[in-house]
Amino acid sequence: MGRSILFSEMNQRPFEAIVVVSFVVLATTSVAQVLDGAALFQQRCSVCHSRETTSRAPSPEVLHARLPEAILDSLVNGAMRVQGSRLSGAERRAIAEYVTGRKMGGDVTGATVGRCPTQTSFPVLSSDPAWNGWGQGIENTRFQDAKQAGLTAEQVPHLTLKWALGFPDATSAWSQPTVAGGRVFIGSQNGTVYSLDAKTGCIYWTFSASGGVRTALSIGPRSGESGFAVYFGDTNANAYALDAVTGKKLWIRKVEDHPLARITGSPALYKDKLYVAVSSYEESQGASPQYECCTFRGSLAAIDVKTGSVVWKTYMVSVPPKPRGKSSAGATLWGPSGLPFGRHLPLMREGAWSMWPPETTTANPPRRPAMLFSH
Ligand code: HEC
Repeated sequence: MGRSILFSEMNQRPFEAIVVVSFVVLATTSVAQVLDGAALFQQRCSVCHSRETTSRAPSPEVLHARLPEAILDSLVNGAMRVQGSRLSGAERRAIAEYVTGRKMGGDVTGATVGRCPTQTSFPVLSSDPAWNGWGQGIENTRFQDAKQAGLTAEQVPHLTLKWALGFPDATSAWSQPTVAGGRVFIGSQNGTVYSLDAKTGCIYWTFSASGGVRTALSIGPRSGESGFAVYFGDTNANAYALDAVTGKKLWIRKVEDHPLARITGSPALYKDKLYVAVSSYEESQGASPQYECCTFRGSLAAIDVKTGSVVWKTYMVSVPPKPRGKSSAGATLWGPSGLPFGRHLPLMREGAWSMWPPETTTANPPRRPAMLFSH
C-alpha cells in the first residue's frame, strides 16, 4: 500500500473571483467566426427546437428575437446548461450568434488584449511563492507557511487589488488559481485556460478546452523530457496535459464515456500518475420524470502523465446498472448508480452523495473503506 492521495471535494464553492463579467469591447478575429453556428445548431439543438407544435422548446424564430448574451446565459447557467455543457465556449458563442443573427463583442478567450509583451521562459519550480493544484500537496492540508506563501497571516487583511481578469461568457468562476514559477494558471467556465503573469496579470497563453474547466490545475515536470506540464479536467470528462511554457496540448484523454460525465474534482498529480475522479450531471437530469435515471457510476482513474493512457480505472459502484422499474412518466429507472463512496472514508470525498438504490439495507450495510489503492 503506497501513500493515500487525497482529492478535493467536488462541490467546492465557486472561487470568489473579483470579476467574472468581461468588459472587453475590442472585437477582432473571433473564434466563433470560424465555427459553423448553423451546423452546430442543427446537430445539437434542432432535434428539440424544431418548430413542431408538440415541442415545449421555443422555435428558432422565438430564439432569434433574443440577444446572443441571453442565449449564452441559458446555455451556461440557465435551462439549457446541460446541453450547453457539452459544447466548448467557442461553440456556444457560434450558436448564440447564429440563432440571433447578431455578433457578440470581444473574443471568447478575452486574450486579444492584455497579452504579455514578451514570452519569458518558465523557471524551474523553486523557492518562488507557489500554490500548486487543489490541496497544496498530496495530503490535501491546504496549508502553507509564510515562507512558502511569501507573506504572513498578519499581512493578509492589508492586501489590495493589484490586477483583475474578466472571463468572457462566464457567470461563475470555480477553478482555484495555481501559482507556480511566477505565473498564475486558471481555467474558466467557457473552457479557456490561462497562463498569466503573477505580478501584472498579463496573458502568456490561452488554451481552449472542449468543456468548462472547474478544476484547479496541477503543474509537474514533464516525464522523460525537460520542462513542465499543466494537468486539469473539463466538464466533458476529458483530462488534459499542456506544455507549461507554450500552452500547447501534449495529450487529451476522455476518462468516461457516459454522456453526462464531467470532471469537477481537481485531478491530483503524484509522481508519474494523474489521479482523476469523475462525476456527472445526472443529479440535475434525474429531476425530470422523462429521464431514464440513473446510469452513471462515479469512478477514479490513474493516468500515465507521459502518454495520457489510463493505467487503471475503478468504478465506485462495482456492478453496471440494470432496469429496476418505471418512473411516473413511464421512463425506465436504472440502478445501481451514483457515487456511494463519499461518506465512508477520508481518502476521497464526493460533493454530492447519490446512490440508487441506496446501499443501506441490513442485507447490504454501508460499505467500509474497502477501496484502498496504491499508486
Ligand atoms: C432535449 C431537447 C433540447 C435540446 C437538445 C435543446 N433544447 Fe433548448 N429548450 C428545450 C426545452 C424543452 C426548452 C423550454 C425549457 C423550459 O421552458 O424550461 C428549451 C429552452 C431553450 C431556451 C430558452 C431558455 C429560457 O430560459 O428561456 C434557449 C435559449 C434554448 N433552449 C437554447 C438551446 C440551444 C442553443 C440548444 C442547442 C445547443 C438547445 N436549446 C438544445 C429543449 C432542448
